[in-house]
Amino acid sequence: MYTLEVKNLTKIFGEHKANDNVSLQIEKGEFFVLLGPSGCGKSTLLRSVAGLEIPDSGEIFISGESVMDKEPGERDVAMMFQQATLYPNMNVFDNVAFPLKIKGVDKQKIEKQVTDALELVQIPEKRNSNIKNLSGGEAQRAMIARVLVQDPEVFLLDEPFSSLDHQLRVYMRKEIMRIHQKTGVTIMFVTHNQEEAMKVGDQLAIMNNGRIEQVGTPAETLQQPNNKFVAQFIGHPQMNFIPAEVSEQDGQLVLKVDSQTYGPIAQEDLIKQPESTDLTIGVRPEEVSVEKEKKSGEDKLNSKVEFTESTGANNYIHFDLGGASVQASVPEIKDWDQGDEVSVSFNKERLKLFDPDGERIK
Ligand SMILES: Nc1ncnc2c1ncn2[C@@H]1O[C@H](COP(=O)(O)OP(=O)(O)O)[C@@H](O)[C@H]1O
Ligand SMILES: [Mg+2]
Repeated sequence: MYTLEVKNLTKIFGEHKANDNVSLQIEKGEFFVLLGPSGCGKSTLLRSVAGLEIPDSGEIFISGESVMDKEPGERDVAMMFQQATLYPNMNVFDNVAFPLKIKGVDKQKIEKQVTDALELVQIPEKRNSNIKNLSGGEAQRAMIARVLVQDPEVFLLDEPFSSLDHQLRVYMRKEIMRIHQKTGVTIMFVTHNQEEAMKVGDQLAIMNNGRIEQVGTPAETLQQPNNKFVAQFIGHPQMNFIPAEVSEQDGQLVLKVDSQTYGPIAQEDLIKQPESTDLTIGVRPEEVSVEKEKKSGEDKLNSKVEFTESTGANNYIHFDLGGASVQASVPEIKDWDQGDEVSVSFNKERLKLFDPDGERIK
């Protein structure tokens, strides 16, 4: 039994499918991250789970039970919104206690639950403070306490830290991980930030245009992307994409990039479709090797350095292959100048190939 299960959920606004046949399963205690670009339908999905949107079709189960005819208050979920704020005319205690008061929980129980929650988010000394005297981080903690105090089956967080500055966001991200570890609460966390998603998630669902493109661990989505969308969205710096064709040469498969030949390659499944045109090679900058000398023939492609770039920690050279701009990670930037000949090869075990529809050929 899953703590949260979404089955074939579709939500349409006018002509637009905000969620298109979405299915996913979240296990008890999981830190599940829903990742995707702005506007892809993340908040809509979360709102449907919380009962704040009514889907056009599909079903939602919490702890094995359909919640489709349950009101938001009866669903045993608690949600922290993108623009969550505290009530300015109540102190911290009353803010955190508010959802319990609405539910009619008795006073003694409220006292205990709020005290515990403030302890957990590490602001017990702020219980009687006025909201306007809280720092940004303390206010965030109070908002998390207000959700935790409801002891939900699923904790829904919709880009909870997106309005914070970078430093505080990193700090709060660690805090939510600590709280997750301590309480074992099931979390569904929405973000458009791939770096954040990779850091916090046990499982990631990557969403695009209302559809789930892939579900997997951070390592799986990084190393075995289902398609080009996932491959370009996950990982930093971005994967290089190089247009190529496959052809057979002396009984072996080779890749043609413009007029150059690279190979042989050992992608066995390609044997099923030799002579494929309009493919894309996917290779990450750290999987591209470069040498100075121009070496023609097998396993090497030739180009010229267009520009170099350094982040301080990492160095890159940029060049063109088959009309695509490619970057390679290099140990030393000073070894390279604009216009230098560069002889390029790839880590063949990591090399990905995508078909004309962008699906990875496995
Ligand atoms: N109440 C609504 N009425 C009409 N369109 C909406 C409504 N809510 C969301 N949308 C549209 O649905 C799409 C997905 O929105 P949303 O779920 O908020 O995306 P995300 O959270 O991933 O940024 C967007 O194109 C948005 O404009
Ligand atoms: Mg949103």
